[in-house]
Amino acid sequence: MASTTFLTLPSGRRMPQLGLGTWLSPPGIVQDAIMVAVKNGYRHIDCAYLYENEGAIGEGLEKVLKEGHVKREDLFIVSKLWNSYHACEDVKPACLESMRLLKVDYLDLYLMHSPMGNKNVKGELMPQKDGKVIQCDIDYMETWKAMEKLVDEGLVKSIGVANFNQCQLERLLSEATIKPDVLQEERHIYQTQCALIAFAKLKGIAFTGYSPLTSPQRPFPPGKLDPKNGMEDPVVKEIAQKHGRSPAQVMIRFNIQSKIATIPKSQTPAHIIENSKVFDFCLSDAEMKKLESLHCGARAVAWDILGMGTHKYYPFGKDQ
Ligand SMILES: NC(=O)c1ccc[n+]([C@@H]2O[C@H](COP(=O)([O-])OP(=O)(O)OC[C@H]3O[C@@H](n4cnc5c(N)ncnc54)[C@H](OP(=O)(O)O)[C@@H]3O)[C@@H](O)[C@H]2O)c1
Repeated sequence: MASTTFLTLPSGRRMPQLGLGTWLSPPGIVQDAIMVAVKNGYRHIDCAYLYENEGAIGEGLEKVLKEGHVKREDLFIVSKLWNSYHACEDVKPACLESMRLLKVDYLDLYLMHSPMGNKNVKGELMPQKDGKVIQCDIDYMETWKAMEKLVDEGLVKSIGVANFNQCQLERLLSEATIKPDVLQEERHIYQTQCALIAFAKLKGIAFTGYSPLTSPQRPFPPGKLDPKNGMEDPVVKEIAQKHGRSPAQVMIRFNIQSKIATIPKSQTPAHIIENSKVFDFCLSDAEMKKLESLHCGARAVAWDILGMGTHKYYPFGKDQ
């Protein structure tokens, strides 16, 4: 069984550094992925209503708990409030729906998936008109205030945000009653997020890096990262060979050693197990620097799809 390490959150709670990502894990397969992950030491599961597989994940979680592989209090279960539910009155029902699907009576962490709201149209996660997402500019601070109530009511232990930029975070920190415990952002060798990680550390916010393997399965049309797959980068391959590890293990270790949490997605049992074996080797300072030097500002998930790049709260700058 792989060991795991933890980050202490501002609230004093602990978040396992390694988590299982679940975006694009199909409902029929993700139950087994959860079983394999938990049996191999994963304690942190990253979910979202947007991924349309929370019901299947809930079945996997129920099974793994029933079979006694782990206790609920040892798991760290994350979900995310989707953009359609930014209106104050929609926040609690959205959270309760994720909890119902995941079959849990509390979430360890609930993240605002992005600062950008869109229109709430029943049954449509990305309501569109003329090929563009129908935006709404509800202030994300209003949404945050409704998320704070979820903590007060004991539905969620921690709240945080994803895909916020530094200005948005500064505003959140100055106006929030409950400070965010976690900031979740894309982070890998081509998008090292040095400034944002330093800012989060300065403010005591824990950082989770998503798409640590550069998200080679992403469905978006050719974008800023294409055709790069970090696992094929010669620098990564060379370091992996030197340690007798896989490129994926090196890229996950890169995040772990940066003292952030990371959530590689896999639905393939051999990969899930391989990705958990990242606590028994160390990259040298020179190797960490070499990996950092691959930064080119490229993103796998820039969110500038379907006109979202024009949203009032679109978080990413031109250089990103
Ligand atoms: N907050 C946000 O806005 C946001 C955005 C994006 C992602 N996320 C979260 O972060 C998670 C991870 O990011 P991601 O899904 O974009 O991509 P990722 O974890 O960077 O890459 C996943 C891809 O790598 C493959 N893979 C995994 N382990 C491998 C291994 N050992 N060898 C070779 N290939 C391997 C997977 O295939 P197999 O499944 O076949 O292993 C899958 O195609 C997501 O699932 C989601 O939970 C959050």
